[in-house]
Amino acid sequence: MSKTIVKYFCKNCGHQASKWLGKCPSCEAWNSFTEEVVQKSSGAAKIWSKQNGVATQAIKIQEIIEGQEQRFSLPDNELNRVLGGGLVAGSITLIGGEPGIGKSTLLLQLALQMNKKVLYISGEESESQIKMRAERIGIKNSNCYVLCETSLSNLLKHLEKDIPEVLIVDSVQTLSTETIDSPPGSISQIKECTGELLRFAKTTNVPVFLIGHINKDGNIAGPKVLEHMVDTVLQFEGDRHYNYRILRTLKNRFGSASEIGIYEMKGSGLREIENPSEILISEREDYLSGISISCAVEGIRPILLETQALVSTAVYGTPQRTSNGFDLRRLSMLLAVLEKRCGFQLGIKDVFINIAGGMKLEDPGLDLGIVASILSSYQNIAIDKNIAFAGEIGLSGEVRAVSRIEQRISEAEKLGFKEMMISKYNKGIERNNAGIKLIKIGKVEEAFEWLFG
Ligand code: TYD
Ligand code: MG
Repeated sequence: MSKTIVKYFCKNCGHQASKWLGKCPSCEAWNSFTEEVVQKSSGAAKIWSKQNGVATQAIKIQEIIEGQEQRFSLPDNELNRVLGGGLVAGSITLIGGEPGIGKSTLLLQLALQMNKKVLYISGEESESQIKMRAERIGIKNSNCYVLCETSLSNLLKHLEKDIPEVLIVDSVQTLSTETIDSPPGSISQIKECTGELLRFAKTTNVPVFLIGHINKDGNIAGPKVLEHMVDTVLQFEGDRHYNYRILRTLKNRFGSASEIGIYEMKGSGLREIENPSEILISEREDYLSGISISCAVEGIRPILLETQALVSTAVYGTPQRTSNGFDLRRLSMLLAVLEKRCGFQLGIKDVFINIAGGMKLEDPGLDLGIVASILSSYQNIAIDKNIAFAGEIGLSGEVRAVSRIEQRISEAEKLGFKEMMISKYNKGIERNNAGIKLIKIGKVEEAFEWLFG
């Protein structure tokens, strides 16, 4: 008779202990241990374990042939971009995101678009629900197979008989193995199932996509070690009130980890958005105060977007600062700089900031545009709509250089802007026949002078 074994796992790093500990000896996190019932039968066959105990050989680094990493291009350009230029054979990619954001839609759509044999494993929906979704997406593909399964061993048995070219698992939290007693979605189950799929991917060279749930803190549910195990971690995010969805790389062993892909959720699936600037700048006829256009960079991609500010007299004692899409602490810093360096009495005003389109960006190059919007609303004077901004603001009011300025300028030029305000410290900008005039400034005061002086 098998004995029930209780183990304790660290939620943070997956460290295993036989008794509860207040502090994890491995990652030093406090209060991170959870209890789980583990019952691992010793004879559990690891189908995809190393070839029947044949000793593996170490080889000299010079002898490894370069370019063996095979990549293939997916029919989805945004996904290609975030994966660092295509899907790598034998790689394992984890896609996390809030419920209902469109993870299943994204991967089912990919499965339907691909001209490879794809196996879509679902533990969340029935075949008919998946069929309904496929009908909605409206692409027919005779090479896309669906299997509703939550048992890992059944899945592995199926894979043994019939190997697909791409495997999609929706979601890793619903899979479970009988060798462990704890319920699906628990730390030990997730760890074990991912480990098994990892071995499958590495031995067969089949790329695997895993969908992962996220918990209330916005992290992928399960142990942190899950993110260490996989090759690539992507996050699918977006605002419920907007249709834009952003696929962000959090980790990528085969490319840059600062890429984004942008989609629009439509009635018939997700549409790739190649030129995000066009949708993020609203069409406006008349001049309105408090609006400016910033040129931000997300990953390596320049995006022009509208920043809006509203400055009004505070009705209550404590002025409000509300920001949508822009870091609130950074906003407080910018307001303090404006107060101290330019003498604006912003301390008695309510300030509201909004980045149009529900985008959330962390690029410090947005500072100048935000400041321009605030000043425009404060003065109640509109900013010319043919001017774009890019510059970081330092604590003493200096306008600092930003990264990828060339790309930002080209993007603004491409979209027909006539002028662009940047930092004079951005050196080496070669633009002779530019159709865009550069206004180079060193301090925020100069921006104010130039715009409203
Ligand atoms: P879903 O892919 O089920 O999300 P997740 O797997 O991340 O939980 O996305 C479901 C949402 O997307 C749902 O609110 C309906 C919407 N949707 C569309 O707007 N258009 C479509 O073509 C599809 C398939 C879904
Ligand atoms: Mg889903």
